[in-house]
Amino acid sequence: MTLRDAAAAVRENAYVPYSGFKVGAALRTPGGAVFSGCNVENVAYPEGTCAEAGAIAAMIAAGETVIAEAYVIADSPDPVPPCGGCRQKLAEFAAPDAVVTLATTDGVEKVTSVAELLPGAFGKGHMDAV
Ligand code: THU
Repeated sequence: MTLRDAAAAVRENAYVPYSGFKVGAALRTPGGAVFSGCNVENVAYPEGTCAEAGAIAAMIAAGETVIAEAYVIADSPDPVPPCGGCRQKLAEFAAPDAVVTLATTDGVEKVTSVAELLPGAFGKGHMDAV
C-alpha cells in the first residue's frame, strides 16, 4: 500500500465532530512498515490529537522508532501543513532530510522535508551543557 493510500484510508476514520476537518497521516519506517493515524478530537478541545501524533503513536506501540518518510492528507485548498507541534514530533523520529509529502484529497502534493518544516529545530544537542 502506498503512503498516500494509507493516509487517505485512515483519514476516513477521523473523529472530528468539532472542526469537521479530517486529516490522515501515514509513516514508513526504513524497513518498509507503514503506520497510519487520524485526528481524534475531544469536547475539551485542547485534548484532541493530530493525525501525525496518532501515526507516531502506532509506530512506537509497534516497537519502531525511525520515520523514513511521512505523508499527510486533508481536504484543504492547499496541501495541508503539519501544525507546529507535529513538526517537532516528526523531528523526534525522522532525519532532517526525511521526505514529508503534504497533500490535498484532490491530488495536489507538495514534497518537503523535516528540516524545511522545522528550521532551527530544538534538538538533543541543545541540552549537552546540562
Ligand atoms: N490537524 C491535524 O490532525 N494535523 C495537522 O497537522 C493540522 C491539524 C487536525 C487537528 C484538528 O482536529 C483539526 O485538524 C483542525 O485543526
